[in-house]
Amino acid sequence: MAYETLIVEIEDYVAVVRLNRPDALNALNAKLMSELAVAMSDLDANDKVRCIVLTGSEKAFAAGADIKEMSEKSYVEVFTQDLFTNDTEAMLRVRKPIIAAVSGYALGGGCELAMMCDFIICSDTAKFGQPEINLGVVAGIGGTQRLTRFVGKSKSMDMHLTGRFMDATEAERSGLVSRVVPVKKLMEEAMAAARKIAEKSMLTAMVVKESVNRSYETTLREGLLFERRAFHALFATEDQKEGMSAFVEKRTPQFRDR
Ligand code: CAA
Repeated sequence: MAYETLIVEIEDYVAVVRLNRPDALNALNAKLMSELAVAMSDLDANDKVRCIVLTGSEKAFAAGADIKEMSEKSYVEVFTQDLFTNDTEAMLRVRKPIIAAVSGYALGGGCELAMMCDFIICSDTAKFGQPEINLGVVAGIGGTQRLTRFVGKSKSMDMHLTGRFMDATEAERSGLVSRVVPVKKLMEEAMAAARKIAEKSMLTAMVVKESVNRSYETTLREGLLFERRAFHALFATEDQKEGMSAFVEKRTPQFRDR
């Protein structure tokens, strides 16, 4: 399917979704958000896709929600349209792993979009921020909740209250990103990680994603029980037999998602 604001390519079971509004530093307008929701659910249902990489340009992953599009909206409009709710929930329904490959600005909704992915690999030029306070608003796609879980209350308050940007080194030190790589190597590294994931049992990868995400939704005891039962349940799969036999037989496993 052709999109106006996205470029989607699939190669070796990895889909790359590139945000493509270069004149607006990939600002998240209604069109982009709805296309992203459609693209993500299509890729989730596509058998030729086992991992998704979400990226932007070298200058900007995304500089936030589209301020020009939002500026004249009234409370009644944003409330009745439930601005950002349906499209972001579509992102969260994706069961396959999603890696955010972030270079340049990831601000406001851009930072929030990256945090909705399963992990973030960023370039050494990345800049993260939740500067909504400068516009007289608060983050609206999860920034106050997710950034706080990633980096803790003190740094999250600092970011949201001062509107300052965090560079890649600070983002890695704070646990916001999993790795920092040179800007020219960003896609190479993100694709290598995605291809590695694509080699695993899709079934198991989906259970991993659900189990880790569970830790954000429940108590430790409930989360541990969820994980233990998921671990037990995987013994009902052919992939568990194959994975463990391959180890014993000193060969590479051939997973079949069964
Ligand atoms: N919305 C709409 N347009 C945007 C935009 C945004 N969030 N960010 C950048 N642009 C546009 C600029 O208006 C400019 O367009 P024109 O050429 O037509 O003027 C173009 O992109 C290039 O931007 P700049 O000239 O500003 O580039 P710069 O290199 O000087 O600065 C920047 C880059 C620091 C990222 C700056 O563009 C900026 O501060 N952007 C806004 C960041 C922001 O406040 N994000 C939060 C948005 S609100 C939000 O996201 C709410 C939420 O949580 C849901």
